[in-house]
Amino acid sequence: MLNPTNKDSGKYTRRSFLKTSSVAVAGLSVADYGFAAPKTQTLALSGGEKAVNFPKDQFAALTKWPRYGDAEKNALGAMLESNKFYEELPAFEQEWKDYTQAPFVKNHINGTSALTSMYFALDLPAGSEIMVPSYTFFATCLAMRFFGYVPIFIDIDPKTATFDLEDAKRKLTPRTHAVVPMHSWGLPCQMDIISDWAKEKGLIVLEDAAHAHGASMQGKKMGTWGAMGIYSFQASKVMPCIEGGMGMYQTREYFERAAAFGHYDLPETFPKDSPVRAYAGTGFGQKYRMHPLAAALARQQLKGLDAMNQLVEQNVRAMNDRLTKLDGLTEPHCRADQKRVYYSRNMLLLDFKKLGFSRDALVKSLKAEGADVNFWDYPEQHKLKIYSEAKWFHHAPTIPASMPGNAYINANHVFLPLFYGQAPELIDQYVAAFEKVWAHRAEVAKA
Ligand SMILES: Cc1ncc(COP(=O)(O)O)c(C=O)c1O
Repeated sequence: MLNPTNKDSGKYTRRSFLKTSSVAVAGLSVADYGFAAPKTQTLALSGGEKAVNFPKDQFAALTKWPRYGDAEKNALGAMLESNKFYEELPAFEQEWKDYTQAPFVKNHINGTSALTSMYFALDLPAGSEIMVPSYTFFATCLAMRFFGYVPIFIDIDPKTATFDLEDAKRKLTPRTHAVVPMHSWGLPCQMDIISDWAKEKGLIVLEDAAHAHGASMQGKKMGTWGAMGIYSFQASKVMPCIEGGMGMYQTREYFERAAAFGHYDLPETFPKDSPVRAYAGTGFGQKYRMHPLAAALARQQLKGLDAMNQLVEQNVRAMNDRLTKLDGLTEPHCRADQKRVYYSRNMLLLDFKKLGFSRDALVKSLKAEGADVNFWDYPEQHKLKIYSEAKWFHHAPTIPASMPGNAYINANHVFLPLFYGQAPELIDQYVAAFEKVWAHRAEVAKA
């Protein structure tokens, strides 16, 4: 039990703020849960003791990202020593291919250049429209404009923060050729349903898997559901190499076109019957090769990817399985056949109307308890200046009047940090902080 400073704490009943009486049903006492959140404990905001008193340096060590150690230092050192740089690239590609089971992959400078190459490879008529979430990084929506494609902004589902197929169905036009689901925060989009619908409508499925290294659905890695997909290995990502990207391709045709866009030296390696082979010496005008030092980092990170994802997931489960018992607090819904990962943060969803206090009041109260809680509203792409100016596009993108899913997620989430090490005590303290705040809801509402 944490901070059992008040001897009345055992008398406290959590029924007032637990969603269900499952604790009682299971025959567990408050003590079995390892925490108690007595109303008699004073909120730190009102001068009480903080629920989270974890040493700062240990907290910094647990939350540090990216995490590079001797393996990375040795790999970089060995490469510099050997003067053999470019061999890292095919080695990394082969390992990533083995890991994801993608038939074709190509390294890129970053996720943005992988997206640009992917759109080039599509080879659709100018004016084709492509469905993208508005809740994403700019490159998902904007890299297409260089080839005359126009984004159709799709909402996200407030239960998952991922691609809302129902909204896509409403926005389908005769010019729509492709859809690009993005696996927000590491949670796979419902690729089976999206793919079935796309097939029925004759649309090409593409994927932005920049957040989802190691995630899969029905045993199939993200980035291999679509005809093409991309990953980013930028420093914040689940598998970081500071700057790096990968294109994922299901067919040789897409691979050759996408790869030759930013790799001038590749066409001459293609089979004789390849239509792209004729572009030997030039490719199609860009140089998007990943830095070999980044590839060396990525290869080391890949070795530990599954273990790190597993550790992070265990920590999230230890936290969220308890937090989601609190009234009005949930997490993005993950289907049983989806294996999600966690990119950067642990997103919690809160029904603030039901809770009766504001997000600002909650964050203020939890911060006072010593918990690192914050929120960050994804900039909605459709609201940004460039999309409102027709001159940048083949034809003006339609700017939706509202995006209720985006609005809901942006207004009703908070983020907790991810812990990249064993953290049972810290997790207990965070849960205790939430429990205490929930026990003082009326007071928090006035904060
Ligand atoms: C969803 C999404 N797509 C694409 C990218 C682009 O990746 P990069 O930063 O490597 O260019 C990012 C990067 O943050 C992203 O979050």
